[in-house]
Amino acid sequence: MPLDYPADPFSAVTHAAPYDYYRRLADGPPLRFDARLDCWLATGATGVRAVLEHPACRVRPPGLGVPHNLAGTPCGAIFAELVRMNEGERHAVPKQVLVRALGQVDLARLQERVLQIACDRVPGSAAQLNEAIFELPLFAMAEVLGFAPAQWPALAAWTRAFVACLSPLSNAGQLADAQVAAEALLQSFSRLLRQGEVKPGSVLAAIVAEADAMGDGVLANLVGLLSQTCDATAGLLGNAIVALRAQPQLSTRLSAAPGLWPAMLREVSRHDPAIHNTRRYTADAVTFDGVRVPAGQMIVVVLASAGDAEFGFGHGRHACSGRSIAQTIATACLQAWAAALEDLPLAWNYLPSLNARIPVFHTGEMA
Ligand code: HEM
Repeated sequence: MPLDYPADPFSAVTHAAPYDYYRRLADGPPLRFDARLDCWLATGATGVRAVLEHPACRVRPPGLGVPHNLAGTPCGAIFAELVRMNEGERHAVPKQVLVRALGQVDLARLQERVLQIACDRVPGSAAQLNEAIFELPLFAMAEVLGFAPAQWPALAAWTRAFVACLSPLSNAGQLADAQVAAEALLQSFSRLLRQGEVKPGSVLAAIVAEADAMGDGVLANLVGLLSQTCDATAGLLGNAIVALRAQPQLSTRLSAAPGLWPAMLREVSRHDPAIHNTRRYTADAVTFDGVRVPAGQMIVVVLASAGDAEFGFGHGRHACSGRSIAQTIATACLQAWAAALEDLPLAWNYLPSLNARIPVFHTGEMA
């Protein structure tokens, strides 16, 4: 085994070259107990699919809708309502509303609009690129939702602060900032809805029209659309830029045939995806392929070990609702930036994370 080999699926996420390790995981049993991590691992296409499809494999531990450290806080109030964090009717009904609303987005218009926004903000340094891969997708979603451009930078900053509450790696200061950001985001959405200027035919109009079906979760799930966009789309953009660096001939092909950008991004999602792990918790004992997992266990679902089966946007009832939007935003950003990026000296490592693979670029001098 090579010396610098990931020790486990968590360290693989930010490892320079983790894909041999993932292939090895996929060659092993689809479901195994990892005594060192004290949890189960679902690996390879078979293990990932089986767990994500199983009705008893839930997104939250039994009896713990909201993590202890968020209970009774603004972040906890949002967390409790997110479709991503709920099951049963509290998931299925609002999920349908979101899927319908996001399905109405005119992707060709979105692509044009994001191209304009991204052309106005071409990164001129590694530091600007690190900001841009987070900001641009959030600006684009804020536009889709109906916020005026003057509000985008604050919304992007609050969203980035809010998502810290979803990571087990966050410190006390980040958690405190996340609470302030959660309040600010909820207020921004309630102001937007009160203004009574919701554009007919927009995502917001579609969600508001079905507010009853969303229950108390309208505002929280609107915040959720921004938070789900944040890290994942930054990862897709960043990993695509890494691919362009690793294969310079790609840039030449893509500048000659820009119609190939969506296909290029699909390849990036397959071979160097943004989201490597998710988690499920058994509500009852479940048996897969003769392996019995008792109730109340955590299963780390190693999406990145599923190889060509492409589970980077999830699968089953919690599969990503924003896939086409994310791909459209990323396509437009890369079209706008690719030529300028060719001239930037870039090296990279990865942001600390147990789930998302997001490059941090630098000039290479500190490497
Ligand atoms: C490249 C960008 C993206 C990637 C790789 C990605 C990936 C994922 C994955 C893996 C899941 C499933 C999590 C699980 O089952 O545990 C998910 C769920 C979700 N994503 Fe995305 N996502 C991206 C962008 C977006 C965007 C732009 C939006 C919003 C427009 C969005 C909205 C959602 C929502 C609402 C869910 C929860 C669905 C549910 O639980 O029913 N995503 N995403």
